[in-house]
Amino acid sequence: MKTEWTEDDLEIEKLSAAPSDDFECPRQEQTEYFVKHAWADHQQQSISVTYVLRFKGQLVGYVTLTMDEIPLAKLERPEGVAFSRLPAVKLAQMGVHKDFNGNGFGPELVTFAVLTALELREKIGCRYVTLDANGDLVEWYKKQGFVLNDKDNEASSSLKPRSL
Ligand SMILES: CC(C)(COP(=O)(O)OP(=O)(O)OC[C@H]1O[C@@H](n2cnc3c(N)ncnc32)[C@H](O)[C@@H]1OP(=O)(O)O)[C@@H](O)C(=O)NCCC(=O)NCCS
Repeated sequence: MKTEWTEDDLEIEKLSAAPSDDFECPRQEQTEYFVKHAWADHQQQSISVTYVLRFKGQLVGYVTLTMDEIPLAKLERPEGVAFSRLPAVKLAQMGVHKDFNGNGFGPELVTFAVLTALELREKIGCRYVTLDANGDLVEWYKKQGFVLNDKDNEASSSLKPRSL
C-alpha cells in the first residue's frame, strides 16, 4: 500500500511489551524474530534492544540493535589505528509490515540505527554500523550507504560496514 507521510506522522520508540502476533513482514525469519524473540532478547537477556516505528500510531516496522566489533582482518586498518578490532553497532534485525513496504519506512529505520550509533560514538566510541544481509538485499543496503567488505565473499556471509 503506497502511503503519503511526513516526518510528523512517524514515531520511533523502544518496544515496551511483548508484541502481538499480528505483525507480518515479507520474510518469515524477521516476522518470527519480532513476534517470538525480540522482547525476550531485549527485556530478559539484555542482548539487544528493539525499536518500533509507528505511522500515525500504527506499528509498521521494527529494528533491533546490538553491539558488534569488526576484526581488522576483515578491513583495511584505518590510518593511526593501533587496535585489532574496531567497535560497531549492529543492525541485527529489521522488518516493515507487508502492507507498508515500498514507502521508505525501511530507510527510516536504517537512519535511526545510524543516528543511534552516532550518539554512542560520543559516549563510548563507535566506528561502524554493521549488518549481515541476505544476498537479495545487498543492492538495497548499498542504497542505504552500506558497502560490501572487500575481504568478504558476497555469496556467503556479507558483512557490510557503514562508516560513521
Ligand atoms: C527490507 C525491508 C525492511 C525494506 O523495507 P521497506 O520499507 O519496504 O523499504 P523501501 O521503502 O526502501 O522499499 C523496498 C524496496 O526494496 C525492494 N525489495 C524489498 N525486499 C527485496 C528483496 N528481498 N529482494 C529485492 N528487492 C527487495 C522492494 O521491491 C522496494 O523496491 P522499490 O523501492 O523499487 O519499490 C522490507 O522489505 C522487509 O521487511 N523485508 C523482510 C525482512 C528483511 O528482509 N529484513 C532485512 C534483513 S535483517
